[in-house]
Amino acid sequence: MERKAIGAAALEVGAVGLGCMPMSWAYTGSRQRGEESLRTVHAALDTGCTLLDTADMYGPFTNELLLGRVLKERRADAFVSTKVGLLVGEQHIVANGRPGYVKRACDASLRRLQTDVIDLYQLHRADPEVPVEETWGAMADLVGAGKVRSLGLCAVGARAARRDGRAGLHAGTIRQLERIQQVFPVSSVMAELSVWSPEALEALLPWCTARGVGFLAAMPLGNGFLSGTLTPGQGFEPDDVRARHPRFTAEMMAANQPVVVGLRRVAARHGDDVTPAQVALAWVLSRGRNVVPVPGAKHERWARENAAAAELRLTDADLAELAELPTARGSWD
Ligand SMILES: NC(=O)c1ccc[n+]([C@@H]2O[C@H](COP(=O)([O-])OP(=O)(O)OC[C@H]3O[C@@H](n4cnc5c(N)ncnc54)[C@H](OP(=O)(O)O)[C@@H]3O)[C@@H](O)[C@H]2O)c1
Repeated sequence: MERKAIGAAALEVGAVGLGCMPMSWAYTGSRQRGEESLRTVHAALDTGCTLLDTADMYGPFTNELLLGRVLKERRADAFVSTKVGLLVGEQHIVANGRPGYVKRACDASLRRLQTDVIDLYQLHRADPEVPVEETWGAMADLVGAGKVRSLGLCAVGARAARRDGRAGLHAGTIRQLERIQQVFPVSSVMAELSVWSPEALEALLPWCTARGVGFLAAMPLGNGFLSGTLTPGQGFEPDDVRARHPRFTAEMMAANQPVVVGLRRVAARHGDDVTPAQVALAWVLSRGRNVVPVPGAKHERWARENAAAAELRLTDADLAELAELPTARGSWD
C-alpha cells in the first residue's frame, strides 16, 4: 500500500488507516466480537494499513487492551494512534486536560497497549477549564520523555464545525491550533471528512495542508451509511450511536439515499467488485497527500475491502460527479 507522511516529524503510515472504535464503542454488539476484532486488526496490518486509531475512552479502556494483544506480537508493523482528554462517567463524558492527569493517562495507555511508545498522541477534546497550551505542554513533555513520538488534535463533531459568526467553519478549532502550534508542532488533525460531510474542506484541511500537518479523516464512511449496506428504517440497538443520530432516522436515511446511489454509479464504472465504500474512501484519499481516511471496522472483510480502496483511482469525471452529490441531511445542530 502507498504510504503517506504525517506532520512535522514525517512519520510514515499506510494511505488507509483502521479506526478501532467500533470494536468496543459506539456501534451495535461491539463487545461480543473480540476474536473477530483481533482478526480485523491483523488483516489491516497484513494489507499495509499501519495506522491503528484508538482512544482510552473507547470501552472505556477495552479498545486499548484489545489492541495491546496485537501490538505485543506486531508492534513493528503498526503506527499506534491513541487519545487523551475525555473521561467516561456514569452519566456524562467529561473533559480533563489537567497536566498531571494527562501524564498519568499516558502511562496507563502505554500499559494497556503493551508498548513503550505511542506514535501519535491526540488531544480528544480541549478542557474548557484548562488553557489548551497547558494541556498541550504536558503532551509535549511526553514527547521529551520518549513516551510519545508526535502530537495531534481532534476536532470531530457538529459543534466543532459549527459556523463561528462570519469567521467560517471550524474557526474555533483553527484558533486552538494556532495557539498550540506556539507550544509544540501539531502533527495531525482528526476531523470528520466524507463525501456527505465535506465541511473540513472549507478551512480546516487547507490550514493543515499549508503547514504540512496530516489530516486524519474520521467517519469517512458516514458511520457506515456510505457503504450502502444500511437500509432506511432498519433500526439500531440502543447502545448504537446511530439509534440517536438525526441522520439515521428512517426518514433521513431515505432522504440521503441519493448519495449512496451516486457512489454506486461511480463504483459500477470501475468493476463489479468495487463497492460504494471503496469509492467513498478513494474520494477522501483524493483530497490531498496529507489526508488519511480512518474507516472504522470490526469485521475482517471490511478491513480488507477498505484497504483495497487505496488502489482505486477515481477519474476527473468521477470526481466531478461526486462533487455534485448532495451533502447529508439531518444533523446534531
Ligand atoms: N477523534 C474523535 O473524536 C473521533 C470521532 C469519531 C470517530 N473517530 C475515529 O474515526 C474512526 C472512523 O469513524 P467511525 O468508525 O465512527 O465511522 P465510519 O468509519 O464512517 O463507519 C464505521 C462503520 O462502517 C462500517 N463499515 C466499515 N467498512 C465497511 C465496509 N467496507 N462496508 C460496509 N460497512 C463498513 C463499520 O461496520 P462494523 O462496525 O460492523 O465493522 C462501522 O459500523 C473511528 O473508528 C475512530 O477511530 C474519532
